[in-house]
Amino acid sequence: MTKQLKLGLGLTGVGASHVAWRRPQANIKASVDIDHYIHQAQKAELGKFDLLFVADGLFINEKSLPHFLNRFEPLTILSALATVTKHVGLVATISTSYSEPFTISRQLASLDHISKGRAGWNVVTSPLEGSALNYGKAHPEHDDRYHIAEEYLKVVKGLWDSWEDDAFIGDKENGVFFDQGKLHTLNHKGEYFSVRGPLNISRSRQGQPVIFQAGTSSIGRKFASAHADCIFTNLVSIENARDYYQDLKKQASELGRDPESLSILPSIQPILGNTQEEADAKFHEIGNLLSPEDTLNYLGRFFDHYDFAQFPLDQPFPDIGDIGSNAFKGGQERLKREAKENGWTLREVALQVTHPRHPFIGTPEKVADEIQKWFETGAADGFIVGESEAGAFDEFVDLVVPILQQRGLFRTEYDKDTFRGNLGLPIPQNRYSQTETV
Ligand SMILES: Cc1cc2nc3c(=O)[nH]c(=O)nc-3n(C[C@H](O)[C@H](O)[C@H](O)COP(=O)(O)O)c2cc1C
Repeated sequence: MTKQLKLGLGLTGVGASHVAWRRPQANIKASVDIDHYIHQAQKAELGKFDLLFVADGLFINEKSLPHFLNRFEPLTILSALATVTKHVGLVATISTSYSEPFTISRQLASLDHISKGRAGWNVVTSPLEGSALNYGKAHPEHDDRYHIAEEYLKVVKGLWDSWEDDAFIGDKENGVFFDQGKLHTLNHKGEYFSVRGPLNISRSRQGQPVIFQAGTSSIGRKFASAHADCIFTNLVSIENARDYYQDLKKQASELGRDPESLSILPSIQPILGNTQEEADAKFHEIGNLLSPEDTLNYLGRFFDHYDFAQFPLDQPFPDIGDIGSNAFKGGQERLKREAKENGWTLREVALQVTHPRHPFIGTPEKVADEIQKWFETGAADGFIVGESEAGAFDEFVDLVVPILQQRGLFRTEYDKDTFRGNLGLPIPQNRYSQTETV
């Protein structure tokens, strides 16, 4: 079979922008409405999607996106959705800077069992300094956060192998619940963590949850190419997406990995219309709802909630030195470089971040063409689809997915029974097992 697209749905409640909640069909309670999420999860399965993705953050203020202000914690909502779905992967964003590996390995392993092998973890290091205020500790420096993440992941993966797959023999006659030889204690003592183990839960049928990452700085890319099964990006142009794709695949293969085992999944928010003009009109209607203040607030978040309102909107993008560089370092560097290269004003940079004129706007055929182009020319292995406004995901499943299926680019049925299986990833063998896991 030819290579297949991988598709995920980003669950963003009232929407991934400042203004999606103001559109006529929007449910303003969507971010905390379980019925909204059940509908979306089941629609994703109807569309044979690979996964649901829940982004997350640990700090808000009055400038944050509406969805960020009032939303579910990822593992909680995904555990609920696991019980009303059968096939779709469930990817939770969890920070390695503000949690403990023992707790998280246990929670993810639980989700993996509850969902019968469909859990995934988006490993983030938490960009925003304010997160520290909610945990009573100092915000680690950007690169240190990745060093912590490196050790954290090692501990979690070690804990997930605490029990070999056939450890729980349950021999009623002889009163042997488990095989002592198949229980392994980690005894990790490192620079950041000290964790004895073993974990009090076994592996699921997919062995270990799938690892996601979204690093864009040089250390972030190194971490992602070494550890991630899937990488999530937010690049708008196909040229930037290709550069990123090629860099990450190259780094993975230099580390001895099969580059095909690493999927790069840009996030897109398609805007569909019966005609190009209708889709363009929707794009402009959404843009017209955005105030300059909204766009500056959104831009500011990438610089650790820096206040850009102090600068004139129609002057060149201001030189702010390295303010906020401990936050989204990789993304900031790219923005500053692009602003300089293109001579953008502050208004233009803010709009570019908040409401870019992206290529996934048009008729269902046009959007399918664009998806195919990115997929077949080395810019993406698939996409995380987000909603530009309420109802946009239903439209995508009803109108775009069938075209992708007719073109043989996307599955028409699920044929595997785990998230790893659907992604074409092998089940990792328990490090202590002598026999192959199949
Ligand atoms: C597409 C994309 C999605 C991200 N989603 C999250 C998220 O949900 N939660 C979070 O804390 N960080 C998220 N991040 C931030 C990254 O995990 C990372 O902390 C940040 O980009 C800084 O690292 P870098 O300088 O290596 O890019 C995301 C980044 C990108 C590019």
